[in-house]
Amino acid sequence: MAFSNKPHFILIFMVSCFILTLFVSALDVSNAVAEAPSPGSGGDGYLPLSKKHVIIHNVVNNKQTLNVHCKSSEDDLGLIHLPWNQTWGFRFRVNIWDTTKFVCNFTWYGGGSHNFDIFDVWRDDNEFGQTPVCSVCIWEVGRNNKDKAMCRIPRDGANPYCFKWDNN
Ligand SMILES: *[C@@H]1O[C@H](CO)[C@@H](O)[C@H](O)[C@H]1NC(C)=O
Ligand SMILES: *[C@@H]1O[C@H](CO)[C@@H](O)[C@H](O)[C@H]1NC(C)=O
Repeated sequence: MAFSNKPHFILIFMVSCFILTLFVSALDVSNAVAEAPSPGSGGDGYLPLSKKHVIIHNVVNNKQTLNVHCKSSEDDLGLIHLPWNQTWGFRFRVNIWDTTKFVCNFTWYGGGSHNFDIFDVWRDDNEFGQTPVCSVCIWEVGRNNKDKAMCRIPRDGANPYCFKWDNN
């Protein structure tokens, strides 16, 4: 009796493996889709644990290298030397309490030293925030040293959202 059941179990095992493989590859695909650019969608990703990609673009007007140092309460991303007109970025997930915040210091020759909250859930991941929700959050740094110190660039070509430094 046990003998005649054995091929049956093997078959079930093989089918299970196959289904599992399908499931895993489906997950991979959905990840890839989630990361793909989604032009025009201001409403992507304000769910707990949503994935974020912050990109920093050095556009300081004296064309110097920008020194970037970003931190959250958990992570210190180290000091980055970003040549003019280059970009650098980092990825993370918003924490389950929706309190994730990254602060960056920016310094460059002839430009001084400035702080800015580069990611703030209330501004960047909130339907009612000051700026549309972003999953890829692109910032131009140093268009000027006043009202356009930090500009978030919408992916759909709309006008940028510009801010002063958080300190002077
Ligand atoms: C940026 O500089 C200020 C004051 O100089 C300091 O308090 C803060 O911790 C620095 N932040 C980062 C991310 O290095
Ligand atoms: C800045 O970089 C972009 C993308 O690499 C390039 O197309 C552009 O010409 C550069 N701008 C200047 C002024 O070099």
